[in-house]
Amino acid sequence: MTAKRQEPKESPFKHIMESKVGTKTKLNGKEYLYFAGTGYFQLQSNPEMIQAAVEATQKFGIGSATSRTISGTTPLLLQLEEKIADFFGTEDAAYLPSGYLSNIAGFQALEKLNVFNIIFIDESSHYSNIGGALITGKKVVKFKHRDVDDLREKIRTHLKNMEKPLIVSDGLFPIWAELAPVEAYLKIAEEFDGAVWVDDSHAVGILGENGRGIYEYFHLDSDRLFMGGTLSKAFGAYGGFVTGNTAFIREVKTGHVMTGSSAPPNALVAAAIKGLEIVKNHPEIRQNLWNNAFYLKNGIKSLGLKVDENHLPIVTFRLSDSNKMRHIHQKLMDKGIYIQFVKYVGSGADGVLRIVVTSSHTKPQIDYLVSSLGVLL
Ligand SMILES: Cc1ncc(COP(=O)(O)O)c(C=O)c1O
Repeated sequence: MTAKRQEPKESPFKHIMESKVGTKTKLNGKEYLYFAGTGYFQLQSNPEMIQAAVEATQKFGIGSATSRTISGTTPLLLQLEEKIADFFGTEDAAYLPSGYLSNIAGFQALEKLNVFNIIFIDESSHYSNIGGALITGKKVVKFKHRDVDDLREKIRTHLKNMEKPLIVSDGLFPIWAELAPVEAYLKIAEEFDGAVWVDDSHAVGILGENGRGIYEYFHLDSDRLFMGGTLSKAFGAYGGFVTGNTAFIREVKTGHVMTGSSAPPNALVAAAIKGLEIVKNHPEIRQNLWNNAFYLKNGIKSLGLKVDENHLPIVTFRLSDSNKMRHIHQKLMDKGIYIQFVKYVGSGADGVLRIVVTSSHTKPQIDYLVSSLGVLL
């Protein structure tokens, strides 16, 4: 049977990406100035990373065709986990097949260690955080988005004597680029003898002096803080990870997610090692990203749109109705610019227009986006 190419309307995939991802990216046969995705440093197309992936495949093959805990891990996987632990300054780290799975693996390990009895989760948390929480089989209570008072209220209502809460959130929420109030969450965790978990997939690499994410950004350090993330965004590679102390990471490494899945492909492991090295050794790319974020936000603000003036590389706005947003999205595409018109967790049913700037965008590219958008508003 030959595969039938679906019309874009029938397909769940609106765009066919026909080039490497970069500031210019080819979609459906046309090159666009690309302000989307999560490749905040555009390492996905970095020649050194591609070279590392090729060499690893030539040396070790595609993959090991086994679960790591059953028939063997590889030197590359062990090296990657050392690199992750070194990058985040933790005792140990576990590498997992995706960021999506990191949350599940993390919760299962915390449950085994009796760290919590009930999960209290931000209602706008990523699908994988909510799914991972439900998989534990423990009681899951949602609290209002970033609302510390509501969290307290929910804890008082649901937590019984001697029970411990696990407070769960994204670190950096991907649609509106909001930061979780983790400082307040830690205080509550201390008060109720609980713990905090963040899915920091969007903050790792880009937030904090060393790119360690939201905890570093707020200068927090505590045995009650746990996190997972992805290597597929800022680090330009693929796969998820969990960091932490030796006992916790041992539970992750011997848990169902790692035991029940094949080790990720060698190309991606080698690329991830290189990606971590690049982000660690080149702090200037983080500075470029922050500068570009400020520059873009200044421009967008000059158009009369409300923006949070900070160094986070995402600008999102919602207009009166989805037809207007669709129209602007299309008109920008006609001008050779791609931004997202997206419905995702936190966007609401009508969707939002979302711009992602990277460390590689140039000022003229950002100017062109801002002036083109200005004409359409
Ligand atoms: C907040 C958040 N967590 C987790 C994931 C999943 O990470 P991965 O793509 O590595 O599975 C994503 C999206 O990709 C995300 O946006």
